[in-house]
Amino acid sequence: MGALLAGCASQSNSVYHQLGGNEKVEQIVENFVVEIERDPVILAYFEGADINRFVEKLSEQICSRTGGPCSYTGDTMAQVHGGMNITEADFNRTVDLLINAMNKADVPHRLQNKVLRALAPTRDEMLYL
Ligand code: HEM
Repeated sequence: MGALLAGCASQSNSVYHQLGGNEKVEQIVENFVVEIERDPVILAYFEGADINRFVEKLSEQICSRTGGPCSYTGDTMAQVHGGMNITEADFNRTVDLLINAMNKADVPHRLQNKVLRALAPTRDEMLYL
């Protein structure tokens, strides 16, 4: 019981909790897919990708990296993106799409920055591998 309460206390400060939990993460990810579909440069990378799996795994990843109660069950960022030859410009372009997705989900800018900070370590796992 004590451990359970402690777990709840730490989660209530998490970026995940500040976002509003799973519902908001799903909104962000759904908006992100729409943004990707509208961007021919980034969409090209997704040819042949399984979008349902992408939605599920990316939601898990955002949840777990922002301190939410999820475990990430997908492949590592290096395994997934390593062979794609993602340029720094295209990485930044994708981050812009994520920002658009968060704007459309009414995520306040300060909170957007916290989400981006939580995902930032993935950058070095996928560029120039
Ligand atoms: C902002 C940082 C990023 C994060 C956190 C991220 C996260 C993910 C995750 C969790 C998956 C699913 C992994 C799995 O299926 O096991 C995925 C798949 C994918 N990502 Fe990313 N990604 C990022 C940036 C990018 C960029 C910059 C590109 C390309 C420009 C990209 C292209 C893809 C593609 C094409 C797939 C689908 C692969 C497939 O199903 O064959 N991602 N990403």
